[in-house]
Amino acid sequence: MRQSWPALLFLSRPSSEASPALYVLPSRIVGNMAFWPYVYGILATVVRVASRILFPTDEPLPAERMIGRVEDVDELAAQLRGGIHRILAAPRRTGKSTVCRAAMARLGDGGAYLVSLSLFELTSIASLAERMAQLTLANRGPLARLVERVRAGGEVVLKGAALTLSVKATAELGEGVELALRPGLAAGDPHAALLGALRMLERIAERDDRPLVLFIDELQEITDGDYGDGHRILKELREILASSPHVTCLFAGSVEHLMRDLFTNRQRALYGFGGFHDLTPITEREWSEGLAARFAEDQVRVDLDALERFVAAGRGHPRCTMLIAQQAHVAIVEQGSHHLDLSAAERGYRGALAAERARHADGLLDVRRLGPGALRVLTNLAHETPPYRSMEAKTARRALDALAAAGIVNRGTGRGEWAITDPLFVDYLSATLPRP
Ligand SMILES: Nc1ncnc2c1ncn2[C@@H]1O[C@H](COP(=O)(O)OP(=O)(O)OP(=O)(O)O)[C@@H](O)[C@H]1O
Ligand SMILES: [Mg+2]
Repeated sequence: MRQSWPALLFLSRPSSEASPALYVLPSRIVGNMAFWPYVYGILATVVRVASRILFPTDEPLPAERMIGRVEDVDELAAQLRGGIHRILAAPRRTGKSTVCRAAMARLGDGGAYLVSLSLFELTSIASLAERMAQLTLANRGPLARLVERVRAGGEVVLKGAALTLSVKATAELGEGVELALRPGLAAGDPHAALLGALRMLERIAERDDRPLVLFIDELQEITDGDYGDGHRILKELREILASSPHVTCLFAGSVEHLMRDLFTNRQRALYGFGGFHDLTPITEREWSEGLAARFAEDQVRVDLDALERFVAAGRGHPRCTMLIAQQAHVAIVEQGSHHLDLSAAERGYRGALAAERARHADGLLDVRRLGPGALRVLTNLAHETPPYRSMEAKTARRALDALAAAGIVNRGTGRGEWAITDPLFVDYLSATLPRP
């Protein structure tokens, strides 16, 4: 006879002050298969899925959680697979990293070697060189484990099989291997280290007869002081890549005009290197279906007008739309409801503005620091007046450039058109700044 034990189910209620209820069920009931669907039913209505899990807003989304943009991923992957370098320049928090990572994952599934770096996360040429070398080696299984040990515990004393492996890899792939396995080594001569890491990309790809895709996110940071002479680095990058037939690059960046300058200015080392990919807007229908599917994961029934409210308030900005949906979910969970209606959507919008208030206040402070011209231009834009109104053209132009460099405004599609990147920031500003 089957051994049976009473089952213990801990059910937590949505309101945090309620203590978990403990149910002890007799084994007779638990043993009956017909009982379990009821348990799932009860759990599904009582245990809520966290709003941040359904609607994340602070990190790139995994490919399977993306809403829309399937064609972007298809197209990027196809171009990169064909050895064509691609550049993606779009304002902050509009989904660049999500799409690029999805394209990279697709290529990885197809057998390509991958090296993905973000210049936001690194702070110097030395750290860039070290990380590049480590990620390059990590494409080979046994070396990946060694790199992981090094990253987890600083310098690893290489002995036995690990030592043999590293000696063999150094003979095959050059000095880049040492950079990867001896943390801090790159700091001795960062520039030479970066060249070593760059050369290793082609070496490993050629040896293993695999295409290798190098993805550098926030590439425009290379022109920042932290990375030393950015121009020189890009020149060498281009030279090395010119003799690296197995390596294809994907570059992304959120300061659009800097990115465009890097690739379209004849004076720049990367002039004409690869083509720009413009992200397609996520359509209203994709938003509605995608958001409804996420609410459904928490057994929430949605009204169409509520979804339309999200899309209208988010104005096509992916993170803002997700944040409003997230805050609406917070509001309905708080009420113990499983129904998203227009009033819940409205609470979501207000919740999103409240959640962003500190960030918006800091943003406005940053603009004030840029000078009175920047504040005037921003006020004009927030109130939908032409940015140049009652300003000298030169002053307005300079202010717009400074605001663009700070990622606060971006150029629209038409001539002389500018827009504030974040629609929730627009709402904050138009409520805060007096109409000009
Ligand atoms: N395809 C998408 N579907 C749904 N939400 C998305 C999508 N792409 C982006 N988002 C939302 O935008 C947020 C930021 O996405 P991501 O990090 O990819 O943007 P980014 O442009 O790389 O941002 P950053 O400028 O900060 O690097 C995500 O956490 C998510 O809320
Ligand atoms: Mg990003």
